[in-house]
Amino acid sequence: MKKKLLMALCSCSCFCLEAKVDRLEYKELSEWRMTDHVEPFSKFFMLYKPKNIVELGLGFGTVNFIRNCDKVLSLELVVPRFGMKWFNECTQCYKDFDTWQGSTIDICENLVLLEGQRVSYLFENPSKIDFYLEEINNLSNLILGKGNMLLSEEIEVIFIDSGFICRADLVNAFFGKVPIIVAHDTNSTNGFYKGYGYSRITVPEDYERIHFSKGQGTTFFIRKDYQNLIHSLNEYKL
Ligand SMILES: C[S@@+](CC[C@H](N)C(=O)[O-])C[C@H]1O[C@@H](n2cnc3c(N)ncnc32)[C@H](O)[C@@H]1O
Repeated sequence: MKKKLLMALCSCSCFCLEAKVDRLEYKELSEWRMTDHVEPFSKFFMLYKPKNIVELGLGFGTVNFIRNCDKVLSLELVVPRFGMKWFNECTQCYKDFDTWQGSTIDICENLVLLEGQRVSYLFENPSKIDFYLEEINNLSNLILGKGNMLLSEEIEVIFIDSGFICRADLVNAFFGKVPIIVAHDTNSTNGFYKGYGYSRITVPEDYERIHFSKGQGTTFFIRKDYQNLIHSLNEYKL
């Protein structure tokens, strides 16, 4: 029944979305695969209140960040497959929340990144494409530059749930640049979602990986100077 409500919300008009998104409850969000990250995030937020979060890939789950963070920036990486429709619809839902901002980075013209996506869809590693890793690095810097500017402070948490499917390569690019990196759908080692490439992640020594396997899988990569948080989140997970 709840799933049906969410599916209906997904397909209804902006007006309807706008009216209903604030009524979405934790239970509904946690039961839906697109938003089941609310459960590990609820544990995280009980232990730690970040000063801000940047979300790559917005949706109904955005409301959970608005409820728990002082500043939320949803940055849509615009790709040809989805265009601006989803972002525009979601903007209608969130535009009246003072602590929320939305913005976009259009990568529809970036042929190297699009080729990376094509290769990743085929479950191959795009790293060997000429200039691919440079473009990923440039994209990560663009995201950070825009994020820091719009938030007027450094990004503390970045959540990667983007329509741009090379999510693993973004995670790698954010190591050393953002203290808390979180990725969604990380259980996806086979089937379509294998295209996210999460097996390509290499965790550096100064970060700790904490994986929540329930549902689609949500993984936190936390810089080791956040020792208390790492300890408590590991305890809480059990
Ligand atoms: C999985 S969704 C993000 C979900 C979001 N983080 C949440 O918790 O609700 C990732 C991306 O898929 C793309 N997308 C396009 N149309 C969509 C639709 N109808 N439903 C879900 N995602 C869509 C958008 O680019 C969106 O940012």
